[in-house]
Amino acid sequence: MSRSHPCSCAVMSCVDENFYCFVCGKNWKLSLAEVTSFLQTHDHKFEVHEISRTFFTFKTDVPLNPTIIDALGGILKIAKVATFVPTQQLADAFVKEDKQAKLQLKNSLPLDVLASKMPQASSGKAVFGVSVYWAETPFPFNKLAHTVHRFLGSSLKDELKAQDKKTRFMGFPRRREHPHLTAVEVLKKGLVEDNAEILLCIGKNKTAIANTVAVHNPFEFQKRDVEKPVQRKIFAIPPRIAKIVVNLSHCTADKVFLDPFCGVGTILQEALLARAKVIGVDLNRWCVDAARRNLSWIEREYSLEDANFAVLQGDARHLTSKLREPIDCIATEPDLGPALRQVPTEAYAVKLVNKLKPLFGDFLSEAYHVLRENGYLVVVAPFVKTRAGKPVTMNLQEMALKVGFKIVKPLQTVFFTQDSSAAPSLKELSTFVDVDEHHKIGREIHILQKIKV
Ligand SMILES: C[S@@+](CC[C@H](N)C(=O)[O-])C[C@H]1O[C@@H](n2cnc3c(N)ncnc32)[C@H](O)[C@@H]1O
Repeated sequence: MSRSHPCSCAVMSCVDENFYCFVCGKNWKLSLAEVTSFLQTHDHKFEVHEISRTFFTFKTDVPLNPTIIDALGGILKIAKVATFVPTQQLADAFVKEDKQAKLQLKNSLPLDVLASKMPQASSGKAVFGVSVYWAETPFPFNKLAHTVHRFLGSSLKDELKAQDKKTRFMGFPRRREHPHLTAVEVLKKGLVEDNAEILLCIGKNKTAIANTVAVHNPFEFQKRDVEKPVQRKIFAIPPRIAKIVVNLSHCTADKVFLDPFCGVGTILQEALLARAKVIGVDLNRWCVDAARRNLSWIEREYSLEDANFAVLQGDARHLTSKLREPIDCIATEPDLGPALRQVPTEAYAVKLVNKLKPLFGDFLSEAYHVLRENGYLVVVAPFVKTRAGKPVTMNLQEMALKVGFKIVKPLQTVFFTQDSSAAPSLKELSTFVDVDEHHKIGREIHILQKIKV
């Protein structure tokens, strides 16, 4: 029988407000910086309630449009919170294995509300799924996540049966380490449209039960990566990181956006999708033609009416003579050094980085000149791994300060509630590293702003 959900005792809040869980990609700090910059740039007021390596919980002033997921590079799912329950209650039920606590938990979940939102299958059985994410808590949820997953799945199944809905609970392949449905699984089964993926996001103090309202579409990123007319594997930035740097530069529709080391135009593509007026510059004639072809392809593929772009052959060390209008935002990845076969020695890494310094130095002063006041520059600098283990980086911040830039700490102006307890160290973050296991040279992402003194 269907129960009505009592807004009482164990349930911390029946959430009428706009609470959202953002499931992030593997570089969680970069994802957090991206989402907060994006929301600020788009004039959303928000508070950060929970931070973990797998998800964040935000409260926003107005409901979010789920399609914002397509404008973000570092977010995998967005889910609207239905209810919070105390994490201690889950710990009692699953760590202490207290039967009474389990029953109480079941009673306090809004199963009736969640089930009533799922449609009746027109034929056969409607599919639903559950994904469990967890923060670093004192409780061993990493070991218990599959148990929690089965509990929520079967509780929902009971409720759906009580509502006369024929359903199938989506399981996982045996060897799946974490009980998360992938974005592809959610997309293929149409779970977002059917309100049929439920997330349990276990936070330090509060656990959110949420409905997935958007998943990122990996096929779109893949398409932009491997189906664009001209590709250059070695030096191209992945589209996902390209989107993140565009968002960190506070790029929005109608702003004038520049990538002065544009290569085949991967960053420009993402800025064009953000509806900015896009300008690319590259020293290499072949890259200029390639970027033009790729941008025209994006314009057609995504039916961008009024797409506005230009790609010029030129030297990023002499931008002033090349550009006719002030620039609102720049995001760019200059030369990061040669492709290395092996992790270098520290001495060789220092040599590589020192060789690049004049290029970065000259570019920084030109960027300062062409940027409008308050404009942002996001620049990727090399992060060279070494055999001794200590990476070698460029003292880019020092160079930028000399030119007149302010170093931006993107999480400094964000409001973190007490639950988001890692906040103080995050607020001081001014660079973000993106490096994979197989990389010899990774990316150190800097955010700078031209502030008139
Ligand atoms: C790392 S690649 C950029 C890759 C680009 N983000 C992409 O996805 O294709 C650096 C680019 O900077 C260009 N470049 C090198 N020195 C330059 C300079 N002084 N001015 C302008 N472009 C330059 C190179 O031709 C190369 O295409």
